[in-house]
Amino acid sequence: MGTTAATSTHAFTDPSPPPFYSPLGYIDSNRFRLDKNKAAATHPPGHPAELGELTTFVLPETVTGSAEDVHLGRELVKTWRRDGILQIAFPKDLEVLNYEIRESKRFFALDYAEKAKCVDDQNFAGYIASGEELTDGIADYSEIFTVLKDLPESDHRVKEKWPCHGPVPWPSSVYRDAMTRYMDYQNTTGEKLLKLTSLGLGLQDPETLNRLTRDGWHHMRVLRFPAAHATNGKGKAGRGIGSHTDYGLLVIASQDDVGGLFIRKPRAGERYANWKESSAGKYEDDKHWTYVPPMDNVFTVFPGDMMQYLTNSYLPSTPHKVGLNTRERFAFAYFHEPNFNAYIEPLAEFGGSGEPIHYGTHFTNMFMRNYPERITAERIRKENRLEKLAELKARAN
Ligand SMILES: [Fe+2]
Repeated sequence: MGTTAATSTHAFTDPSPPPFYSPLGYIDSNRFRLDKNKAAATHPPGHPAELGELTTFVLPETVTGSAEDVHLGRELVKTWRRDGILQIAFPKDLEVLNYEIRESKRFFALDYAEKAKCVDDQNFAGYIASGEELTDGIADYSEIFTVLKDLPESDHRVKEKWPCHGPVPWPSSVYRDAMTRYMDYQNTTGEKLLKLTSLGLGLQDPETLNRLTRDGWHHMRVLRFPAAHATNGKGKAGRGIGSHTDYGLLVIASQDDVGGLFIRKPRAGERYANWKESSAGKYEDDKHWTYVPPMDNVFTVFPGDMMQYLTNSYLPSTPHKVGLNTRERFAFAYFHEPNFNAYIEPLAEFGGSGEPIHYGTHFTNMFMRNYPERITAERIRKENRLEKLAELKARAN
């Protein structure tokens, strides 16, 4: 295999494309060379944006804190700060991903009545029909299966009526197994990325970020977007999901070959603080967006709200939106998150100050806002489960 851009100095010594970084040095970087014409042909119509050329990284098998790891961590941080997003390579024919895609397509092909049964009044997980989710008050066209922590009724948090806690309404045990395996895989990826990020940020304690994710509130959205001409008319023409930022630490996503994701690079003068003022809908129709073209064998990764808060905006949460294309599209977004009951405090290294954020409260607020009519939200209101959050906060202090 060629090793052209995988340099032994672990630096971008070659400024020409493809921007590629591998501490291992064995991957053929040509696999990640963007064919601009092919990429431009996948651009969804009606969404002005520049074509994104993302940097691709190969992660090591384990992160030990070596000099190579520190260097890789710094490159990750530098790339997020410049581009808002980066790619990580994964092996061809990744079985856990293929299995997850196959079973998800099988799920979405079910009759609406079958899919609509997958809801739960304690857990926001399950099926979300096209036109059911709101972003900035406008219906999104995405059709979704959401996976959240799957907890039996016997779990003490479910018994104590913690908001959002309960069993996942799986359509089948086969689907449960497919999703669980995929999420376990991404959990390992997320932990590795957090350790590298801590090293790259130069945190005194390199376990700082990983400590937040013990029994993390990791979750996942399997998304199907209809073709632009095949919607049910509940949303806005051509819009898949409105602009927004995601809630936690890292978003690790994959997409098929259709294309629809747009992100916003960090821009001078633009500030978001989604935990206190919604970033939904911001700059949605502005032209400064970057189109993320599909590429084989990569996940895209960007920071979420809690990473921004921890780093005092040194690593800002990346705004993104989805446009509908001429064909239906599938995408998979895994969210690597803090523990539900974790407090997120600005890191001393970044001179941050401000009240600690209770992650579970932030998460619950976001889901209540996006799915105000769901039976889960109704039960939270009916049983005053939001009050439980105040109790949890008091208990944690
Ligand atoms: Fe998102």
